[in-house]
Amino acid sequence: MKEKIYHDKYVQYYDYFQQGVRGDVGFYLSHFKNFRGSVLEIGAGTGRITTPLMKAGINVTALDSSADMLAILKKKAKPLGISPRMIHADMRTMRIAQKFDAVIVTFRAFQHLYTARDQLAALHSIRKHLKPRGVLIFDVYAPSIKYMAEGTWKWFGADKKILPGTKRKVVVDLRNRYDFGNQIMYQEYRFTYPNGKRDILPLRMRFFFRFEVGHLLHRTGFSIIKLLGDFKGHPYKHGSPEMIWICRPSITMPKMSGLI
Ligand SMILES: C[S@@+](CC[C@H](N)C(=O)[O-])C[C@H]1O[C@@H](n2cnc3c(N)ncnc32)[C@H](O)[C@@H]1O
Repeated sequence: MKEKIYHDKYVQYYDYFQQGVRGDVGFYLSHFKNFRGSVLEIGAGTGRITTPLMKAGINVTALDSSADMLAILKKKAKPLGISPRMIHADMRTMRIAQKFDAVIVTFRAFQHLYTARDQLAALHSIRKHLKPRGVLIFDVYAPSIKYMAEGTWKWFGADKKILPGTKRKVVVDLRNRYDFGNQIMYQEYRFTYPNGKRDILPLRMRFFFRFEVGHLLHRTGFSIIKLLGDFKGHPYKHGSPEMIWICRPSITMPKMSGLI
């Protein structure tokens, strides 16, 4: 199932209601400072992270499964004087005739892989596109029991956004509920337009627990270098808001057929 929010007319709103995780742009900029290698950014979307990295001279290839999100990136890149290489592909099945020095899966794009089969397929495919001494970095949110308990399917967070270049005020609010059996967060974003019309956009995210991700990584041939709990660089611990995984390929590359 396609997540509607990343397609069609809705992509024009993405940059105005998604700010990412605090500090993520700065983290990637400092991690790749003076990095001369190639970086594959998976789930690059409209280029919230791609564009500052490229402006800093980092060689980024932007991959996304939504052509509509990439179209916004293309539009934004021109006035910035950058021309990112863009690949419209799915991280589970991508085939690129290049191996990269780094792969980053930004702003929780990994959480759009809902089953173990999809997660293993994506990690396996990332592993195939990484050089032997390459690095994989990705983030997923750390589940907060307190926040989840508030997932009562009630609308909250009404946020008024004025779209640049227009006088259109769009009110965006959202609601959450959690399916613990399948570790899925269901979210709906509601857009209310000045004429009172509404659009409701469902979005699902898989939530992960720490050791589950560790097992997925080991099974697909990655060694964990660091697990951070926020983009300031603190180690992951109880109460950390995020899990930022920094890994390298281990010596053996398991066969996908043996994984499921
Ligand atoms: C939360 S957005 C992140 C966009 C951008 N990285 C940012 O920081 O704003 C997640 C992105 O992942 C993309 N995505 C979801 N599933 C994907 C998949 N299987 N393969 C590649 N991209 C995927 C979506 O189309 C969307 O653009």
